[in-house]
Amino acid sequence: MASNVFRQMASEGGSIFRDESVLRPEFMPDELPGREREMGELAAYLQPAARGQAPPSVLLSGPPGTGKTTMARLLLKQLSEVSRHALPLYINCWETSTRFGILNELVMALGDMMPRRGIAADEVVARLKEIGRREQKSLPIVVLDEMDRLLAGHEGQVLYDLSRSSEALGLPCALIGITNDSEIALKLDARVRSSLTNHHLQFKPYTPAQLKAILSERAKRAFNPSALDSEVIPLCAAVGAKAGGDCRVALQLLLSAGRAAERQGARQVLVSHVKAEQASAMDTAATPAERKSADLDEMDKKIIERIKKAGASGLSSGDLYSFFKANESEQRTLRNRLARLESGGLVEGEGIDASGGRTRRWKIRKTG
Ligand SMILES: Nc1ncnc2c1ncn2[C@@H]1O[C@H](COP(=O)(O)OP(=O)(O)OP(=O)(O)O)[C@@H](O)[C@H]1O
Ligand SMILES: [Mg+2]
Repeated sequence: MASNVFRQMASEGGSIFRDESVLRPEFMPDELPGREREMGELAAYLQPAARGQAPPSVLLSGPPGTGKTTMARLLLKQLSEVSRHALPLYINCWETSTRFGILNELVMALGDMMPRRGIAADEVVARLKEIGRREQKSLPIVVLDEMDRLLAGHEGQVLYDLSRSSEALGLPCALIGITNDSEIALKLDARVRSSLTNHHLQFKPYTPAQLKAILSERAKRAFNPSALDSEVIPLCAAVGAKAGGDCRVALQLLLSAGRAAERQGARQVLVSHVKAEQASAMDTAATPAERKSADLDEMDKKIIERIKKAGASGLSSGDLYSFFKANESEQRTLRNRLARLESGGLVEGEGIDASGGRTRRWKIRKTG
């Protein structure tokens, strides 16, 4: 048989990875080493939901890559495995950033179809009340991830709706809010603050030892036996710890070092692979905007792209308005988006927000 380079590669298999997908961001681990205490606490708060009773609202806060989103999703999954009552609804507020959008998703999760356009938030509330009056078996557990985005966009009322859902929407719901902003309590409306911050889990940066434990667990499934030099995991863990105790950084580095080793036909991932990948990651400087870009909508991406192109000197709001040929109401939308991106730590604006803020200069934030 004539030799076929792909067949040959397939039969040899990569010597490095057993299952690369275990290191990708979308992989859902079934255990969270280093977060046993937080996991136990959140599970205890949510326990009533397994019996169909509304649990209290819970706030999860902490720096990037500390496992907040993963824990919330994992517990929702486990909860729906044991309870027919719990109806998990995960919403990322970078994607769905309005009160209307969120309540609309709730209506749809409860099985009612809603026309997406042409109706107001009040009508969605009316629809929810109607659902609440019918016999109601399911208990929605709503996760609002990156919830600070709602405050920046003046959409905070939905936090009241969901944290006081029996009064506001006429049906019981549970709310889990997630944010990077450790000071969010100060920015919340008093009525929301009292219910949301009563049960507050603060996620600390991971220590090097915790990151080592997490990476070792993943590596067992991701790599072939003896495909890793013994110093690789400690190094990736140290880099993640230095980047603010960020597990995303550590996992990403381990994955890209593995890929580099495989590309080069090496038999083991070595410290030199990690260092080379680390250097190139620094070159391309993963700004917070890039790390979270999977969560941005098209318009946000365009805005960030434009600001990035302007480089170190930045770009004024006025320049952005003319680039997008924005009329008055579109300028307002752009200003809201900039405010959200700013509070999300993705861009920074210099100058004051007076007279339409045309002269504020925008740059990409490099650290955060
Ligand atoms: N304890 C853990 N065990 C296993 N994997 C973890 C753990 N903590 C975090 N991870 C992994 O690290 C990555 C980042 O975690 P996650 O997205 O949950 O962070 P986050 O706190 O929500 O960050 P951000 O605030 O930036 O959204 C994910 O790929 C997740 O699977
Ligand atoms: Mg998250």
